[in-house]
Amino acid sequence: MNNLKPFSESGVEIFDMHHKRYYELLLLLNGIVENKSCSPDLPTFMHKLSFFAENFFVDEELILSKNLSPNLQKHKDEHSKFAETVEDFQKKFIQGDKNICRSLYDFLTAWYYDHVHNFDNEASRFLIEKGV
Ligand SMILES: [Fe+2]
Ligand SMILES: [Fe+2]
Repeated sequence: MNNLKPFSESGVEIFDMHHKRYYELLLLLNGIVENKSCSPDLPTFMHKLSFFAENFFVDEELILSKNLSPNLQKHKDEHSKFAETVEDFQKKFIQGDKNICRSLYDFLTAWYYDHVHNFDNEASRFLIEKGV
């Protein structure tokens, strides 16, 4: 079922490390969906996802802020929105939503293409131009 387009490395280490990890998380969730093991496996997955969002988003924002990215606020807003949406998924899971893994996978995949492939790539190009 997995037909994710791999990302191409940008040359900015923080971004590349972040995106490799995100890609791994997507593959992990894909496996959970395929194994139909949402209920037992989602809590651990959510823990990993929250850890990822807390740490990597801050790293990205710091390097963009240090280099005076004109899109910093928009980038931060996208990250916050992502964290809020993940929290909503968490709540729905606790409330017993049975299709949560599939819809979370769809959301994370859309973000992979919209944010990681486009928005973050643009940010990496900006940083490379700045000589990072
Ligand atoms: Fe990113
Ligand atoms: Fe980002």
